Amino acid sequence: MEFNNLLLETGEGIATLTINRPKALNALNEETLKELHCCFAGLRSDPAIKVVILTGAGDKAFVAGADIAAMQGFDALAAREFARLGHEVFNLIEKLPQPVIAAVNGFALGGGCELAMACDIRLAGENARFGQPEVNLGVIPGFGGTLRLARLVGKGRAKELILTGDLIDAQEARRIGLVNQVLPSGDLLEGARKMAQKIASKGQVAVRLGKEAIDNGLEMDQDRAGRYEAELFGLCFATADQKEGMSAFLEKRAAQFQGR
Ligand code: CAA
Repeated sequence: MEFNNLLLETGEGIATLTINRPKALNALNEETLKELHCCFAGLRSDPAIKVVILTGAGDKAFVAGADIAAMQGFDALAAREFARLGHEVFNLIEKLPQPVIAAVNGFALGGGCELAMACDIRLAGENARFGQPEVNLGVIPGFGGTLRLARLVGKGRAKELILTGDLIDAQEARRIGLVNQVLPSGDLLEGARKMAQKIASKGQVAVRLGKEAIDNGLEMDQDRAGRYEAELFGLCFATADQKEGMSAFLEKRAAQFQGR
């Protein structure tokens, strides 16, 4: 796949996707969003891809937001269409069967913070800065920030960030649960790769069902979520990987998973 604003590398079951508009701090314009859609749709149906790492080009920004120059002249309907496109792309990422790790290498602001939040796991370099500074521009988050930030860090903290527009550093983002780990900036991609390799070495049906159980279960009441988890747990026992995983444990050897 060839893109104007993305770089894609694949190998050993891992796809590393880099948003590549460093001159605009990797800001998301319509073309970049459409390319992300196309790229993730391809990865979704690629059986060779077990984990995706998403990062930004350069050492300054993951993504500094939706592209302000592109949005400046929007009327209300164009803005709504742009926001709908963002939601479509970020929902595709969130619902991807494979886990997606965001390696946040600098500014993750506005649409960039929203993009990181659509990923399953966020690793941040020490230099990362997070925020939803849309109020400084006279707008609100439009790519899912009001929903995902409140779900990740709670209503009070989400309101503080969205209503003040303040930026927070990587350690504060970790403290409030917005990121999973903070790594030295030079080790960020390697750290993301190690985590991706670890996930890729497990039974892939279980990995995907675990992701599904958490994401869908969170939208249900506890009784339904429990029944749903039990269904997916049962489904694991229809796989060769469950037989292999449990036999390998009892035979005190490493499991050789086949992803089925
Ligand atoms: N859109 C378009 N271009 C952007 C951009 C953005 N979101 N962020 C940065 N750039 C561009 C700058 O215009 C600049 O371009 P030129 O060199 O052509 O002037 C280049 O990237 C470098 O940026 P700065 O010179 O501003 O770099 P800095 O180090 O001084 O500041 C920064 C870095 C604090 C991230 C600053 O660029 C900034 O505040 N950017 C905007 C962040 C923002 O408001 N994001 C939210 C956007 S709205 C949104 O995302 C809505 C939504 O939810 C859908």
